[in-house]
Amino acid sequence: MAAFKLTHLMGLIGALVPAFAIPTVYSRQTALPLPYKVIAQMNQTDDFVENIAVRSNGDLLVTLFYPTASVYTVKRPFSDSPTLSLVHTFEDANGLTGISETGPDTFVVAAALYQELAVPSPNTTSLWELKLGGGDQAIAARRIIHAPQASLLNGLVSIPSTKSAILVVDGLLGVLVRVDLTTGLYEVVLDVPELKPVAGKPLFLGANGLKIRDEHVYWSNTDLVSIYRIRVDEQGYPIEAAEVEKVVTLENSSGVDDFAFDGLGNIWVATNTNNTVVTVSTDGRQAVTVGSLTELTVAGDTAMHFGRTLADKHTLYVTTSGAAAAPVNGTIVEPGKIVAVDTGGYY
Ligand SMILES: *[C@@H]1O[C@H](CO)[C@@H](O)[C@H](O)[C@H]1NC(C)=O
Ligand SMILES: *[C@@H]1O[C@H](CO)[C@@H](O)[C@H](O)[C@H]1NC(C)=O
Ligand SMILES: *[C@@H]1O[C@H](CO)[C@@H](O)[C@H](O)[C@H]1NC(C)=O
Ligand SMILES: *[C@@H]1O[C@H](CO)[C@@H](O)[C@H](O)[C@H]1NC(C)=O
Repeated sequence: MAAFKLTHLMGLIGALVPAFAIPTVYSRQTALPLPYKVIAQMNQTDDFVENIAVRSNGDLLVTLFYPTASVYTVKRPFSDSPTLSLVHTFEDANGLTGISETGPDTFVVAAALYQELAVPSPNTTSLWELKLGGGDQAIAARRIIHAPQASLLNGLVSIPSTKSAILVVDGLLGVLVRVDLTTGLYEVVLDVPELKPVAGKPLFLGANGLKIRDEHVYWSNTDLVSIYRIRVDEQGYPIEAAEVEKVVTLENSSGVDDFAFDGLGNIWVATNTNNTVVTVSTDGRQAVTVGSLTELTVAGDTAMHFGRTLADKHTLYVTTSGAAAAPVNGTIVEPGKIVAVDTGGYY
């Protein structure tokens, strides 16, 4: 897509001018939808791509929620010919959810044995550490803990100031959990209504995506179609007496899945069942920036992550389920995929 390359190049030039000049240069004139292209797609209709992390070398790592507990990589995602290949399939599980970097080429992943989509069998959830080498293959997979107390672990995030622990949300029990990666200590650190699913909602899914930014932990709640936050200390524990704040409720959407911050603090949100990416600006303005209810463009989008190299720092990589939970026009599904969205013009 020529438009993609042109604005991509403009994004690169933009990156060279001082940051204060960027709002003047771009001044929100960009036509929507933003330019995008599919960079990788699975080959089976049921393949559900669930979450995404980016390696320090710029390669993407994506998890499958269904049908296998597999991590795939997209190498050189910003090149003309990205390649998709299997990295690792975890044992004792058939689905993965969140993935987050915890150290150099080291990632933590949540795995479980699901009886049906989003319904884990009791006592089957584990957190695994995956250490990657230079090539495609995992060089080591270590079970950090088997977590019998967990139901549906979903988004997870490493705590920036201590690489030895993560936060993870349980979207069915509706709790925020801190896990020490060395000792395996599993502690519920927050238990509030804003983390819980809502009875009567079609999905019955509470906390979903999870991010840490500016001394706050942020999470999306699918049933509440909202993003919340609370202040946390350097160890990832909510500050005593801190209150949960609502960051945003999406207008005109029936769902919200995972999300990502850009460098300016705008929030890019996967709506999943609405088949769109919604951008929530720091001033609260909301815009559908990619996709629509009746398109396959980002159908069933599940998560997103910005690129980490100079070449793709304005590229938002979006993962999709292929509309597994809510087929487009009632019947149309496709294999999950990874879509690169050029956000370079949107500031
Ligand atoms: C689908 O892709 C996987 C991994 O990329 C590969 O191993 C498998 O052979 C492919 N299956 C078909 C039917 O193309
Ligand atoms: C939970 O699973 C573990 C490991 O598979 C097993 O040792 C344990 O007995 C199980 N607990 C229950 C209550 O089923
Ligand atoms: C989002 O999806 C719901 C149905 O799932 C629909 O009623 C609503 O109109 C959609 N919103 C947009 C903006 O398409
Ligand atoms: C869904 O239906 C609408 C309205 O008929 C149509 O414009 C759109 O192309 C359809 N979507 C797909 C993916 O076929």
